[in-house]
Amino acid sequence: MSPARRLLLLRLLPLLTLSLSLLRPASADLCHPEDKEVLLRIKSALNNPYHLASWDPDTDCCTWYCLKCHDATHRVFSLFFLQDDLPGQIPSAIGDLTYLQGLNLQKLSNFSGPIPESFTKLKYLQFLSISWLNLTGPIPSFLGQLKSLTYLDLSFNKLTGSIPDSLSTIPGLNSINLSRNQLTGKIPASLANLKGNGLNLILSHNNLSGKLPVTFTGVNFGKLDLSRNKLQGDASLVFGMNKTTYYVDISRNQFEVNLSKAEFSESLTYLYMDHNKIYGSIPKAMGSSHFLNVSYNQLCGEIPVSGRLQSFDYTAYFHNRCLCGAPLDSCK
Ligand SMILES: *[C@@H]1O[C@H](CO)[C@@H](O)[C@H](O)[C@H]1NC(C)=O
Ligand SMILES: *[C@@H]1O[C@H](CO)[C@@H](O)[C@H](O)[C@H]1NC(C)=O
Ligand SMILES: *[C@@H]1O[C@H](CO)[C@@H](O)[C@H](O)[C@H]1NC(C)=O
Ligand SMILES: *[C@@H]1O[C@H](CO)[C@@H](O)[C@H](O)[C@H]1NC(C)=O
Ligand SMILES: *[C@@H]1O[C@H](CO)[C@@H](O)[C@H](O)[C@H]1NC(C)=O
Ligand SMILES: *[C@@H]1O[C@H](CO)[C@@H](O)[C@H](O)[C@H]1NC(C)=O
Ligand SMILES: *[C@@H]1O[C@H](CO)[C@@H](O)[C@H](O)[C@H]1NC(C)=O
Repeated sequence: MSPARRLLLLRLLPLLTLSLSLLRPASADLCHPEDKEVLLRIKSALNNPYHLASWDPDTDCCTWYCLKCHDATHRVFSLFFLQDDLPGQIPSAIGDLTYLQGLNLQKLSNFSGPIPESFTKLKYLQFLSISWLNLTGPIPSFLGQLKSLTYLDLSFNKLTGSIPDSLSTIPGLNSINLSRNQLTGKIPASLANLKGNGLNLILSHNNLSGKLPVTFTGVNFGKLDLSRNKLQGDASLVFGMNKTTYYVDISRNQFEVNLSKAEFSESLTYLYMDHNKIYGSIPKAMGSSHFLNVSYNQLCGEIPVSGRLQSFDYTAYFHNRCLCGAPLDSCK
C-alpha cells in the first residue's frame, strides 16, 4: 500500500467507526418512543401477561409479538390479540396508538366490558374487529367518529340495544358484521347512505324486528345476511334486475314476499330464504343461482325448468304449500 493510500485509510477509519456507531442504535430500535410508551401501558393494564413476554422495554418494539410497524414510518399500525387467555378489559391506552390502521381482538373469552371511548382518537383506523369476546352493553354511537373505517366486525359478543345511526356517517365503511349478538330494534334506514358499491351487511342471529327500510331499494349490497331475526314485511326490495348483489340470506324471519313478482339478477349466486312466509311461485330467473333454499314457506305451483333449479336437493323446496315438479313430486 502506498503511503498516500495508508494515510487516506487512517483518516477514513475513525469516520467509518463513527458512522457505524451512529447507525447501530438506529437500526436496533426503530420503534417510535411514543408508541413504545403506549404499548408498555397496554401491557401493564393487562397485568403483564406471559403472552406479552416479548414486550421487553430494552428491545425494539417493532420486533414485539402481536403488532406490526409500518415499513417506512416505523409507527405501530396494526395490533392483534388472537385466541389467548388474556383476562381483563380492553385497555383504553390502545386509543393512544395514534397511527393504528388495524385492530383485531379475537376469541379472548375472558375479555369483557365496553369498547373504550378513547378509540375515537384512532383517526387512521380502517379495520376494527372485536369478535368472540364477551362485550356487553350497546354498540357505542361514538364509533361513528372513526371516519377512516372500512371494516367493522363486532360479531359473537353479547351486545344489546339497537344499531346506532352514527355508523352511516362513516363514508368508506363497506363491511359491517354485527351477527351473533342480542341486538334489538329496527335496522336503521340511514345505513342506505353506505351504498358505495357492494356493502356487506351481516346482521344474522340477533333479535332485530320491524320492516326493512325502504331506502334499501337503492342499495347495491355485496353480501346481505339478515338470517335468524324477527324481521317482517316485504323483503323483495333487496333484489332487483340491476343489482350486483351475490349473496342474500333472509332465512328464519317473518318476511312476506310474493316471489312471482320479485326480480332476480344473474349475479345472485347464493339465495337462502327458508322459514319465512314467502308465497307466489318460483320465477324462471331464480335458475341462475348456484345455491338456493326456499323450504318452509308458502310457495305454490310448478318449479320451472330453468338453469340449476332441478339440480338442487328436494330439501331446498320441501315444506311449502303446494310446490310441485322436479326435484319434488310431479304436479297433478
Ligand atoms: C377465565 O377466567 C376464569 C376466572 O377468572 C378462569 O377460571 C378461566 O380459566 C379463564 N379462562 C381462560 C380461557 O383464561
Ligand atoms: C364469556 O362467555 C363464555 C361463553 O358464554 C363464558 O363461558 C365465560 O364465562 C364468559 N366470561 C366472562 C368473563 O364473562
Ligand atoms: C363477519 O363478516 C365478514 C364479512 O362477511 C367476514 O369476513 C368475517 O369473517 C365475519 N366475522 C366472523 C367472526 O365470522
Ligand atoms: C331474543 O329474544 C327472546 C325473548 O324475547 C330471547 O329468548 C332470545 O334469547 C333472544 N335471542 C337472542 C339471539 O338474543
Ligand atoms: C336497469 O338498468 C337499465 C339499463 O341501464 C335501465 O334502463 C332500467 O331502468 C334499470 N332498472 C331499474 C329497476 O333500475
Ligand atoms: C303475486 O304476484 C302475481 C304476479 O304479479 C300475481 O298474479 C298474484 O296475484 C300475486 N299473489 C298474491 C297472493 O297477491
Ligand atoms: C334447506 O333448509 C332446510 C331448513 O333449514 C334444511 O333442512 C335443508 O337441509 C336445506 N336444504 C338445502 C339443500 O340446503
